[in-house]
Amino acid sequence: MMVCEYKPGLEGIPAAQSSISYVDGQKGILEYRGIRIEELAAKSTFLETAYLLIWGELPSKEELKAFEEEVRLHRRIKYRIRDMMKCFPESGHPMDALQASAAALGLFYSLRDLHNPAYIRDSVVRLIATIPTMVAAFQLMRKGNDPVKPRDDLDYSANFLYMLNEKEPDALAAKIFDICLILHVEHTMNASTFSARVTASTLTDPYAVVASAVGTLGGPLHGGANEEVIQMLEEIGSVENVRPYVEERLQNKQKLMGFGHRVYKVKDPRAIILQELAEQLFDKFGGDKYYEIAQEMERVVEEKLGHKGIYPNVDFYSGLVYRKMGIPTDLFTPIFAIARVAGWLAHWKEQLAENRIFRPTQVYNGKHEVPYTPLEER
Ligand code: CMC
Repeated sequence: MMVCEYKPGLEGIPAAQSSISYVDGQKGILEYRGIRIEELAAKSTFLETAYLLIWGELPSKEELKAFEEEVRLHRRIKYRIRDMMKCFPESGHPMDALQASAAALGLFYSLRDLHNPAYIRDSVVRLIATIPTMVAAFQLMRKGNDPVKPRDDLDYSANFLYMLNEKEPDALAAKIFDICLILHVEHTMNASTFSARVTASTLTDPYAVVASAVGTLGGPLHGGANEEVIQMLEEIGSVENVRPYVEERLQNKQKLMGFGHRVYKVKDPRAIILQELAEQLFDKFGGDKYYEIAQEMERVVEEKLGHKGIYPNVDFYSGLVYRKMGIPTDLFTPIFAIARVAGWLAHWKEQLAENRIFRPTQVYNGKHEVPYTPLEER
């Protein structure tokens, strides 16, 4: 057996062969099944892109219509899930509520017919359809309100915003939200996708796969960074404070949230599109003082860390977009999960097609032959 050098964070070590997405971190390119995200963001919808990722090809008109219809029909959640969510503490983080609710779906759909394409399709549809409903339901219930039922006449993104705010969203906001989902749906072998594939490799059910990935996405070094970006911009408070803030953090060896990426050494292509989307929203609904702070921060960080390849990542501008839509900060990461569930499911399906359980090795650096010391002698 080949002995490999230990790489912290498994940097550069392939964990799977995959044809789902591709990143060129030097050129700033991201493709889903070979199609550039710029093109998908301009021409596709979230559900069409989800179909592309999961089944490998863009759907025909009929296939897309059938998929949209199935998702539409499965948006409602069981009253027992809703009642379970009502018992969650309102101070709990919505990502924890989402993880518990996604795992709870496995109690209701416990069959594990992993080689049956109909089972795979049902699970995909149910998860993509119900995760937004669960996120919106928790948001309303933690404020003491009843959840709002999904509206069948609204498309996927408009319906989520409707369930969240109890009112029909502005058409531009709904379109921009849908593009945000496209931009977050998939991103090669990141931490939560790795987590999903490891869980999938044990042949457990897809609800456990998604629940483990949601848990991984929540951390501040991964999906949780979008929340921290807004907190950081609030803390900075003014354009003049940007430079001293950046300098102080760098001096204390602290990370600047929303910057840097294991793979991208240029500005993340998703950040470029998200910045444009934020500007479209500001043009229609008025500016945001945090945008000026963010732009100044991008300039200062580029000056200080550009030589290390540290530029804004996907999380830097997404929060400003969601903020302008009136979405609370702690829902930013659950929204990332609403999108990413389709990417995780594409990896689940790919993993099942050629499964071998993940069982890496380790470099043991502990002791050997240690005698047992009786309790009274310790
Ligand atoms: N601020 C300041 N310095 C940074 C940053 C940052 N955000 N990111 C990396 N560096 C520096 C780091 O200090 C180190 O410097 P040196 O070589 O002098 O010690 C060098 O760059 C390499 O950093 P690293 O932490 O070893 O890089 P990594 O590939 O392990 O980490 C990362 C990637 C995304 C975790 C990291 O850049 C980071 O913590 N960024 C802030 C959190 C963040 O925005 N996360 C969202 C990531 S993108 C979306 C997602 O994955 O969900």
